Amino acid sequence: MRIPRVLLAASIAIAASATAQAEDKGNGKADVSQAELKAKTDYCKTCHGLSGQGFRGSFPMPRLAGQQPEYLENQLQAFIDRRRTNPVMFNVAHVLSPPMLKALAEHFRDLNPKPLGGAPKELVAEGKKIYEDGIPKAEVPPCASCHGPEAKGSDAFPRLAGQLHDYIFRKLTSWDKERGQDKAKPDNSAIMGPIAHNLTEAQVRAVAAYLSYLE
Ligand code: HEC
Ligand code: HEC
Repeated sequence: MRIPRVLLAASIAIAASATAQAEDKGNGKADVSQAELKAKTDYCKTCHGLSGQGFRGSFPMPRLAGQQPEYLENQLQAFIDRRRTNPVMFNVAHVLSPPMLKALAEHFRDLNPKPLGGAPKELVAEGKKIYEDGIPKAEVPPCASCHGPEAKGSDAFPRLAGQLHDYIFRKLTSWDKERGQDKAKPDNSAIMGPIAHNLTEAQVRAVAAYLSYLE
């Protein structure tokens, strides 16, 4: 698939910031013990599901299974810095050490449960079209050009396959209120801002339904 020039520029910016972060964290202290890691992941799974498949409580807890480690770590850091606002995840994340962030990200990458499902099936076909072709009239590029043809993501681009449809809906309809909240420290969330903004609610529902069934 041909990737438009703006997307390439965006990817390069992401790659540069990822390298800078890797340097910052290069001198993290000793590794995390298996016992510490298990205690922590058991805790995460009380909300995110026993296999990291996500969970529907009074609101949707996102799937973490199969997530790209770099994206997952970026989000934990964004919660800690309050660039991404969420009171629950700030409390969870701000006590985690840099080596623990890395160990958690690797743990969840390796899980592969079935998607939870539950989205209206009649929206899937329209959602697939949006995912693969974008919406040229509204200047929405194909999601696949960044998130990958199977929505598995790569590096700082998140996996969307199997994500809870109601979680995706909530994130895309409140992007600018939750992500990139430190204007002095712009982050990768800026790439999704205009895309989330240009989608109608009906289009978000459709693409979220499609993604939620992908394995
Ligand atoms: C008390 C419930 C709870 C616990 C415990 C919890 N989380 Fe979360 N987590 C949430 C909720 C709710 C969200 C969604 C926040 C939002 O809507 O932006 C979330 C979001 C996340 C995200 C962002 C996912 C994405 O796709 O962007 C990551 C990463 C994450 N949690 C990792 C963890 C890890 C790792 C642990 C264990 C150390 C953990 N969480 C423990 C409730 C919890
Ligand atoms: C130009 C590249 C690009 C395109 C095109 C793109 N995305 Fe994204 N998307 C990203 C990046 C980068 C992130 C991670 C942002 C961050 O780290 O804060 C992201 C994050 C997301 C998230 C948040 C995931 C989570 O777990 O919270 C969703 C949902 C999403 N994109 C859906 C879509 C959909 C649907 C489309 C197509 C309509 C799309 N994206 C098109 C780059 C892109």
